[in-house]
Amino acid sequence: MDDTATLIPLEAVQPELIEALLDRAFGPDRHARTAYRVRLGTDWLPALSFAVVDSEQLLVGTIQTWPVALTDPAGRAHPMLMVGPVAVVPERQGEGFGHALMAAMTAALDPQTALPQLLVGDPEYYERFGFFAAPTQGWLLPGPYEKHRLLVRCANPAVLPHEGMLGPWIG
Ligand SMILES: CC(C)(COP(=O)(O)OP(=O)(O)OC[C@H]1O[C@@H](n2cnc3c(N)ncnc32)[C@H](O)[C@@H]1OP(=O)(O)O)[C@@H](O)C(=O)NCCC(=O)NCCS
Repeated sequence: MDDTATLIPLEAVQPELIEALLDRAFGPDRHARTAYRVRLGTDWLPALSFAVVDSEQLLVGTIQTWPVALTDPAGRAHPMLMVGPVAVVPERQGEGFGHALMAAMTAALDPQTALPQLLVGDPEYYERFGFFAAPTQGWLLPGPYEKHRLLVRCANPAVLPHEGMLGPWIG
């Protein structure tokens, strides 16, 4: 990302512009994806959600982070952060905006208390940011998904439950 573009809080962007960008990046049928069911009924977290605008203030990319939980077989809910969608408009992909959005999100996490971060995405892209599928292989989502695309980033993966069902965090 060059210095003609600017990272801003997602809160500063009109909601309809965010939705239009996500439709372009993922297609209008994106709402049927299982990832949407995991965070159903929650709102994205303003402190961990960002946008990039270009020199003409046009929206180039967004990242959103949501409160979710993994409920283990004993019924205990383990709060986590669900990252995504990460989206860059098709004509500006490959210019480093995805990296900048991921870096903004990880930099905004409190390293002392960061919850595990979860996302559904291509491991070939997200492993570079520290997201891996190995700890999630016993986890379930409320709908169809590809196991190798369920990724987690955690300072200490040993604390993660081996099994559980992901869903919204309704605290
Ligand atoms: C995936 C996405 C967010 C990446 O953002 P971006 O700004 O295009 O990517 P960056 O410029 O930061 O990084 C480019 C690098 O990532 C690689 N890359 C991009 N998407 C990739 C993918 N799906 N799998 C593997 N590598 C990928 C590029 O090949 C490039 O590699 P290089 O640095 O070795 O040349 C963006 O392409 C996008 O919105 N895609 C459509 C929506 C999507 O699939 N989102 C991810 C699921 S949440």
